[in-house]
Amino acid sequence: MTDIVKRRSIVFYTNAQKPELITTDLDLNSCYKPEEIVVKIHYAAFNPIDYILYKIASSWVAKKTFAKTFGRDFIGEVVKVGKNVPADQFSVGDKVAGLFQHLFGESGTMSDYLIFDPKAHKSIAKIDSGKVPISPENGAWPLVFGTSYQALTSFELKKDVDWAQKDKRVLIVGASTATGIMAVQIAKNELGAAVVDGICSAASFERNKEYGFDTLFDYKTGNVTQDLIDHVAKTGIKYDVIYDCCGNSYFFNCMDQVLKPKNENSYYVSIAGDSKINYANPAFPSIVGTVKKWFIRSYTYHQLLLVPNADVARVGIKMITEKKLSVPVDTVYSPEDFEKAFDKLISAKAKGKVVVSFS
Ligand SMILES: NC(=O)c1ccc[n+]([C@@H]2O[C@H](COP(=O)([O-])OP(=O)(O)OC[C@H]3O[C@@H](n4cnc5c(N)ncnc54)[C@H](OP(=O)(O)O)[C@@H]3O)[C@@H](O)[C@H]2O)c1
Repeated sequence: MTDIVKRRSIVFYTNAQKPELITTDLDLNSCYKPEEIVVKIHYAAFNPIDYILYKIASSWVAKKTFAKTFGRDFIGEVVKVGKNVPADQFSVGDKVAGLFQHLFGESGTMSDYLIFDPKAHKSIAKIDSGKVPISPENGAWPLVFGTSYQALTSFELKKDVDWAQKDKRVLIVGASTATGIMAVQIAKNELGAAVVDGICSAASFERNKEYGFDTLFDYKTGNVTQDLIDHVAKTGIKYDVIYDCCGNSYFFNCMDQVLKPKNENSYYVSIAGDSKINYANPAFPSIVGTVKKWFIRSYTYHQLLLVPNADVARVGIKMITEKKLSVPVDTVYSPEDFEKAFDKLISAKAKGKVVVSFS
């Protein structure tokens, strides 16, 4: 017997064509393999990487023969479970959230339905919808949360950062970014950082302090590097961690004045390269500077790419459940309004996540 539903998906083929919203028929009784589950998506969130991958998807890079669905973050409900999926893992009716990682995949979370093998996606977990309700906020955290959690706890993914002393001082470059807002809450509410300062526009100072930032510095004055050097000189204590969520090079010529010495386990980690990416026309950053910083450096430098693992979902869901993590949402769009969602995303002015409702 068939059970045909309409499935809307926000897709692209290559960067030669505009993204589009397509509607296809899906037979819920035959669309999944024995080891797969089918999730009805309620909310999915965009990240800059969605648009960047689309913009670099020339026909050399991505096959133009099939539609690639946008989206990695989601919250939804399990509607079908393959017969080889262990019963204690997922059942019909379970609420789930997490990060569906893919590069140019046919499946993505910007769709009414997501079909996947849960063994291959470690950052997806069941939620207790009494404590983590199905909402735009709770579908929007996985990628930015996971990235900031790894940046602060295992930035080289080899050794864990020691937070036991509870005396760490952190500087977040890009305090208004969704990753920055996750980072301040992880540092303060989960890891016990003593001080978390940030760099953002003055217009965002009040809002960002509500998430836990201590002192904030305005990048629009054009003097932010010197402001930080003066601040550190005044307090007499340098930072243990500088986390760049934006792509900047403010401190490369004066790192010893703001970051503690390397032998005190300090480090600098960037998730966005060393210069701000133009989302509308992304270019690969020069690797010369990066290689230089990796090999000829007086400080520990790392560029982080999120590696989805079980901790991303486990710690994120725990922090939301304990009300230690609040997820900012800028706007919730309908799938039909996806172009407006992209405009907001690439403006680099979003104050929180750009979410699409498939409810
Ligand atoms: N490596 C990875 O695995 C990974 C994972 C996630 C994200 N990323 C990257 O991390 C970056 C941030 O992503 P996101 O989603 O968190 O960003 P986002 O939420 O879209 O950031 C938007 C905010 O950036 C702030 N901003 C713009 N220009 C700035 C500047 N020059 N200095 C400081 N702040 C500035 C603006 O706030 P104000 O003007 O109020 O300050 C704006 O509200 C992106 O480049 C993304 O590609 C990488």
